[in-house]
Amino acid sequence: MRLSQLSINSVRNLTEVNLACGPGCNIIFGENAAGKTAILEAIHILSRTSSFRTHRITEVIQHNQETLSISAEVCINNRDIRILTGLEKGRSQTRIRYNGERITRRSEQARNLPLLTVTPDSHRLLFGSPKDRRHWLDWSLFHVEPGYIQAWQDYHQALRQRNILLRKAAPPEELTPWENAMATAAEPLLASRRAYLQQLQQALDPFLAADFNQLAIDYTGPELSAERYQDKLQQHRKTDSLLGHTQYGPHRDDVVFYLEESKNAAAILSRGQAKKLIIALTLAQAVKYQEHREQPPILLLDDLTAELDDQSRAVIHGQIQGQAMQVFITTTHPETLAHAPGQTAMAMFHVERGQVTKVVE
Ligand SMILES: Nc1ncnc2c1ncn2[C@@H]1O[C@H](COP(=O)(O)OP(=O)(O)OP(=O)(O)O)[C@@H](O)[C@H]1O
Ligand SMILES: [Mg+2]
Repeated sequence: MRLSQLSINSVRNLTEVNLACGPGCNIIFGENAAGKTAILEAIHILSRTSSFRTHRITEVIQHNQETLSISAEVCINNRDIRILTGLEKGRSQTRIRYNGERITRRSEQARNLPLLTVTPDSHRLLFGSPKDRRHWLDWSLFHVEPGYIQAWQDYHQALRQRNILLRKAAPPEELTPWENAMATAAEPLLASRRAYLQQLQQALDPFLAADFNQLAIDYTGPELSAERYQDKLQQHRKTDSLLGHTQYGPHRDDVVFYLEESKNAAAILSRGQAKKLIIALTLAQAVKYQEHREQPPILLLDDLTAELDDQSRAVIHGQIQGQAMQVFITTTHPETLAHAPGQTAMAMFHVERGQVTKVVE
């Protein structure tokens, strides 16, 4: 999966931009505030209908404009299948088209254009809250396991209903069917989460630098069958009712990254090390995605070179180029991303005050 053409209109300072994207590494460079991240933001909006920087689309739409629009030509499986997709978004309305069809479900478009994104905010995967890590894990599974989203929705719908009933101090017989539904959905959800993290840990090996030669990924939730989980919910009805919400379950679990001798990575890693670990995890996710879906996702790396020393930049850039996937990298220091000979072609774009010029094919 890759983009061959990208058109962006009225996204931040990008009034009208047309890019002929390269099939491998696309390096987008320029001074601060030039509009580099806005290009990645546009690709993200085309896939997910939302920005990775803000939930308020009015912040992204160019000042004095009512709508933004983004369109792309997508090549599937590197074969000669070319599909057009486009999105138009205003304050209250979003219109998406993919291959001539109107798309009404956001998840469908996210599946059409699978993305993995690393931004300065990705540090939240290590230093943020359990909610950030669950969000990351849920998105990973959404991309690779078709049934996951249904189990996730079933679980959360039943959880909401149980919480409403708990707050109303409803009698036990009203709670039972929702607890049953939660337990039924939780079992495959938890099994998928555990299995995916195990697979990810294996896929990580080639991307881990010497600093992380013993990384373990731990899922904190207990391993419970549907019956045991339902028993647990019943046992906690009283305390849950006092608290007004459900204390146990996949909606409260966490993922912990341990380094050698069981040290919690979040407690000891430097910013640069954390960034390297997050990029390694993302490349491992891309490998898993490709195994499941038989084509690579598109990778967006915002401000790749920040916080990394020269050697780390070179190692990571080599790893990225070694993957047969399309990558969009923004940087203020393109000279530190050397082109590894014999590897994927590199396209370079210079951005200056919202204008983009292709400088290398
Ligand atoms: N809604 C908007 N309308 C017009 N311009 C905007 C809007 N929102 C932000 N901008 C401007 O668009 C530019 C976008 O900057 P962007 O974040 O893409 O820069 P960048 O090249 O990634 O810079 P850095 O290297 O600092 O990360 C900035 O100059 C910003 O002031
Ligand atoms: Mg930026």
